Amino acid sequence: MKTLSALLLLAVAAAHAADLVEHVKANADGRPAFSFDAGSWTDTEAVRHLPVGVFDSGIGGLTVLEALLNLDSFHNDTLEPGADGLPDFAQERFIYFGDQANMPYGNYSAVNRTDYLRELILKDAVFLLGRRAWPAKGQEPTYDKPPVKAIVIACNTATAYGLEDIRKAVETWKIPVIVVGVVEAGARSVLESRNTGGIGILATVGTCASRVYPRTISSTLGRAGQRVPVIAQQGSATLAGAIEGDAAFPDSVSAYAMKEVRALAEAYRAEKPETPLQTIVLGCTHYPLAKEEIDTAFATLRQDSAFRDIIAERRSFVNPAEATARELFRELARSKLRLKPGESCVMERERFYLSVPRVEEVGIQLSGDGSLDKDYKYSRSPGHFDFEDTKNVPLTVDLIPKNSANLIKDKLPAVWKALGH
Ligand code: DGL
Repeated sequence: MKTLSALLLLAVAAAHAADLVEHVKANADGRPAFSFDAGSWTDTEAVRHLPVGVFDSGIGGLTVLEALLNLDSFHNDTLEPGADGLPDFAQERFIYFGDQANMPYGNYSAVNRTDYLRELILKDAVFLLGRRAWPAKGQEPTYDKPPVKAIVIACNTATAYGLEDIRKAVETWKIPVIVVGVVEAGARSVLESRNTGGIGILATVGTCASRVYPRTISSTLGRAGQRVPVIAQQGSATLAGAIEGDAAFPDSVSAYAMKEVRALAEAYRAEKPETPLQTIVLGCTHYPLAKEEIDTAFATLRQDSAFRDIIAERRSFVNPAEATARELFRELARSKLRLKPGESCVMERERFYLSVPRVEEVGIQLSGDGSLDKDYKYSRSPGHFDFEDTKNVPLTVDLIPKNSANLIKDKLPAVWKALGH
């Protein structure tokens, strides 16, 4: 019975995603909300000069952008694997979008709102594909944002719930746009690590509820003829927020990390594994920013004799960001959409956008700090394309929590520089 209602919910969510796909088709001039100009990709030579879009539910995906900006895993001329001292995407430019007003994406599934989450994720892609964005000041959107030739879903939760919708939509719209998500790349990294011990996934509640990582890792290892070890996962509703310095999570990052690591180790132990937990997948874009705290938590827990045999002495961490960057390189090269040395993108430098509440829209509810009210946020339903409660504006440091700005400055230097510092 439970399976039947879950299947029904999935079918309803798919129908809602299809509504947005149809709305886009019906507004091919790209002027109204949630639409794009269908003619943006007709000149195949011009497509190569478009930027690459990267999106996340907030600023966590900047860890993926950092990997994209720094990647040097290929020879830029021969395209063969191996570093050549030149960033692999030297010629490319990126548009980053963080849907901060609607985050955390990881908590929509717990309140049965994956239908709305799936629509939000598809809207993120539509925004990147379109030209419509809000200028820094002013109430009306303008149409000067370049469309993109590829979309990187730099969010695990968005990949779990939206990758298939976006791939299907791109096919329906018949546009030559590449779509890359972090989960398949993360699973490939697990395979490449050649570790034989157990696997632990740390991610959001939503990502874990979807079981996308256990499923994708099992099939990736299985296809390569490798034994699938015990895989345990732990979904956190707090760690990403704490890393961002959100005041709703007052404890230290170390304290939240300890709680999640203990729960993961307990879940792993419950599987009665024969080998200790060795590979930890940082299955939320924020977690690479707290890798030290997470590893310290494992080391501390291992001092407890109850966990000594459960946790490997040396853990190996998988950050799907770098594998995602390699995947994008291969896909751009395969589709002949990569800019060659000497060529340049239509955009001179990176652009960053963030969603903020559209306070002028009647009917939206805000909390004291000006963000969307929590109850309002999770009570919305899909299918209202003439109603915009958020707007996508250029990301400036004053729009993000101070802690997040400091994290970017300290831990993501290439992004910090691209932001103009
Ligand atoms: N960026 C999300 C992820 O990687 C985590 C934050 C959120 O829940 O929105 O899953």
